[in-house]
Amino acid sequence: MARARPVDLPDAGWPTREEALASRLFSSLRVGAFESRTRTWVPAMVPWRATNDGFVTPEVLDWYGRFAEGRPGVLVVEATGIRDIPSGPLLRIGHDRFIPGLRELVAMVRERSQGETRLLIQIIDFLRIRRRPEKDRYVREFLKLRPEHRVAVSTEGTGKKQTDGDVRDALLALPHEELLAVLDGRETEALEYGARERVWDTEAQHIAELPRVLPDLFASAAARARTAGFDGVELHYAHAYTMASFLSCLNVRTDGYGATREGRVRLPLEVYHAVRTAVGPDFAVGCRMLGDEVIEGGSRIDDACFYAGEFARAGMDFLSISKGGKFEDARQPRPGEAAYPYTGPSGHECMPTVRMPGGPFGRNLPLARAIRDTVRAAGHDTPVVAAGGVGTFRIAEDALQDGDCDLVAAARQSLADPDWWQKMELGRGSETRRCIYTNYCEGLDQKHKQVTCQLWDKDFAVPDAPPSGAEGARGANRGAPRADDGISRSADGRRRLLAPPWDPARTPPRP
Ligand SMILES: Cc1cc2nc3c(=O)[nH]c(=O)nc-3n(C[C@H](O)[C@H](O)[C@H](O)COP(=O)(O)O)c2cc1C
Ligand code: SF4
Repeated sequence: MARARPVDLPDAGWPTREEALASRLFSSLRVGAFESRTRTWVPAMVPWRATNDGFVTPEVLDWYGRFAEGRPGVLVVEATGIRDIPSGPLLRIGHDRFIPGLRELVAMVRERSQGETRLLIQIIDFLRIRRRPEKDRYVREFLKLRPEHRVAVSTEGTGKKQTDGDVRDALLALPHEELLAVLDGRETEALEYGARERVWDTEAQHIAELPRVLPDLFASAAARARTAGFDGVELHYAHAYTMASFLSCLNVRTDGYGATREGRVRLPLEVYHAVRTAVGPDFAVGCRMLGDEVIEGGSRIDDACFYAGEFARAGMDFLSISKGGKFEDARQPRPGEAAYPYTGPSGHECMPTVRMPGGPFGRNLPLARAIRDTVRAAGHDTPVVAAGGVGTFRIAEDALQDGDCDLVAAARQSLADPDWWQKMELGRGSETRRCIYTNYCEGLDQKHKQVTCQLWDKDFAVPDAPPSGAEGARGANRGAPRADDGISRSADGRRRLLAPPWDPARTPPRP
């Protein structure tokens, strides 16, 4: 099949300095307890730079320090685990021992943004997902034998007694399609994709207990964020994770935490109230939520509007709207790999590319608009944050002027060029390294490799800024060491780990 022609990047419509100063984008806004200097927002992006124990590393400090140099109004630290359990190189906040590293991160962002960027941390809970097993191993080790399995390969009448081992051998000997016909839906999923827990698997005690344990876990994590010096927390109620699954129309729990809209929003509200009680009124608490799950049977925009109204009424300080990113339609992983929630249609809506019909630009603004309208109609002025293909001044400013949202978030454009906010504000937007929205970065994320942008590797001439910032070293462990050429690189030496620096004092080359 011929590949669709990629959508062209839109005209940037870069503002002059005067236009930027007069714009809504570069005007301030109160977000709960803090004032954001501008309506610019860098949403959470996992860069896979923490230690395997979830601690902040010098590379994490570099990563956030680099975003801070662009001085966005708000910067959100990546999804950070609230439990004290091994989670691979995902940042964690599930114990007080994580506070010192996070405090350094806060200090780095304050220093590099010269105090201009407000800093939030996204806090997340997720359920277990196993890697797709080899077929032989699944049938021999993981499959719990049921009477239906035995009947399907029964040797009754032959006089031969079957042991469990015989049944497993016989199941393995079946043609694949016949084996699948014997397995039920969850067994088939476990074999073909890897077993995945659902929030409605209430026969498992640890899942039944989620409403009892999650409010405290989120509240303790938020209290640590406050101690570390953050300006607020973003509760991760979006994409493929626990809290979004409670909000999903697929959630059929019958214990009061599912089945109806009121039931589905109950735990997210209880988590919010527990967090608010723990951190007090002078600390921003909001959530990231889905405007549309984009999966069969999932929540749609009218559900999202209902949830958003409830969150606003409860007193959340902001609502950051995302879309899709679910496991339900994820691509089948290879044996030994885990399913990844950004590989199916819902995932493509979450991080839209130029190869999608209609393209990525401002793609998800209508969801933010519908949610904002609902929240305003209910009499709340809760700021709404929109993301998805915001890669130009024009898109951002029009979204604000038209009332789609109150703050605009740009993930990949800020990754491609963390300075783009400042460049625009100074009337030098034409110097922006523009994201081409083909998702090289997302491919790295999928493999849990250090996330970088392919455009950075076009420039190996300019060294990174020194590790500890322009003001000079204040701590021993701030920023990663640079190679001899002054550039921090990926392990294979081929990729820059940081966006090439931009010096506002340097005159741009003539076009
Ligand atoms: C590498 C990468 C990692 C991401 N990690 C997170 C995350 O930790 N939490 C989250 O809510 N969204 C995450 N996202 C989604 C972005 O925040 C954003 O919603 C999405 O990329 C669409 O915005 P954009 O078009 O401006 O890139 C990630 C996106 C990318 C590209
Ligand atoms: S790798 Fe591609 S999609 Fe990702 S930020 Fe860079 S240009 Fe944009």
